[in-house]
Amino acid sequence: MAIIEVKNLVKKYKISEKEHGIIGYIKHLFHPKYKEHIAVNNISFSIEEGELVGYIGENGAGKSTTIKMLTGLLTPTSGNVVVNGIIPNEERIKNNKQIGAVLGQKTQLWWDLPVIESFELIKKMYEIPNEQYEKNLKKFTEILDLEDLLDKQVKNLSLGQKMRCEIAATFLHNPKVVYLDEPTIGLDILVKENIRKFIKDINKERKTTVILTTHDLKDIEEVCDRIILIDKGTIIYDGDKENFKNIYGKHTMIEFIVKNKNVNITLETSEEEFEVIDESDKNIKIKFNHDKFTVMDIVKLISNYCEILDIHIQEEGLEEILKEIYRGEIIDD
Ligand SMILES: Nc1ncnc2c1ncn2[C@@H]1O[C@H](COP(=O)(O)OP(=O)(O)OP(=O)(O)O)[C@@H](O)[C@H]1O
Ligand SMILES: [Mg+2]
Repeated sequence: MAIIEVKNLVKKYKISEKEHGIIGYIKHLFHPKYKEHIAVNNISFSIEEGELVGYIGENGAGKSTTIKMLTGLLTPTSGNVVVNGIIPNEERIKNNKQIGAVLGQKTQLWWDLPVIESFELIKKMYEIPNEQYEKNLKKFTEILDLEDLLDKQVKNLSLGQKMRCEIAATFLHNPKVVYLDEPTIGLDILVKENIRKFIKDINKERKTTVILTTHDLKDIEEVCDRIILIDKGTIIYDGDKENFKNIYGKHTMIEFIVKNKNVNITLETSEEEFEVIDESDKNIKIKFNHDKFTVMDIVKLISNYCEILDIHIQEEGLEEILKEIYRGEIIDD
């Protein structure tokens, strides 16, 4: 059975429609008016134990709302969530024991305490056996490079240092499922790499199921095998990451280093099929639909205009594909 089952999940937020000023305030006091905003609109998915799932979509798509319902922090308007046999918002304490979560700016560490004391409090709260605690602490300190941070007060840590400690705290009790809502936001490249490696290591070792929300698609490229793409509260893709690229990645980028170029490149075709992205005396960058043209077609075309010195070919990555989807170029409403 799947470890996470989500069925026809809906979350509607009630937003008060208050007029401006004191009169508006008084009016609202006696005749409150509300409108509804559907943040999550009838979504269903199931996730097997050990999966690494990237939950992606534009700002406001409904990702954090979904994650909050999965953790039990929010009650669904309708539909069902079952995580490892538990309904999260009905059995929050029981659910909390089996999950870990990093939710945006919220911290699970105690601001005024040294990091190690926060970890020890977590040990007590979750009743983590000594041996497991020591083993995890040693391992996490090593991978996340926490040695110099353990004695520092949380309030004195930098953003990246705090997130590394936060991630360690999340995994200390060996949770079965972990939700990470933008864990790499604002972090430098090395810290991001560290965190990605940590997630992959733990997943491999313990079959921890991870749902990861991020706008840094390198996180997805490196960590996740499966993508769930949500748009305006509705799932528009759920499946294998590579398959996603095959379905939506219709373009190839090709860059030429050239000499003796006299005229500009022209070809009568739509932008979707062939587009000159960049053009100078020494450089030509072209994006083309690889269902319509082959690389050889493009090479032949360019050789009519100039002498080709070097070629660099690049398949479309997740980032480009998502940009096209967000712009409405691939999937219509
Ligand atoms: N407490 C709330 N009350 C009213 N509306 C809300 C509330 N929380 C979120 N929303 C709205 O619900 C929609 C989904 O928000 P959500 O935070 O789930 O998006 P998100 O996909 O996590 O976006 P981001 O990438 O910016 O974090 C947005 O339009 C947001 O304005
Ligand atoms: Mg969010």
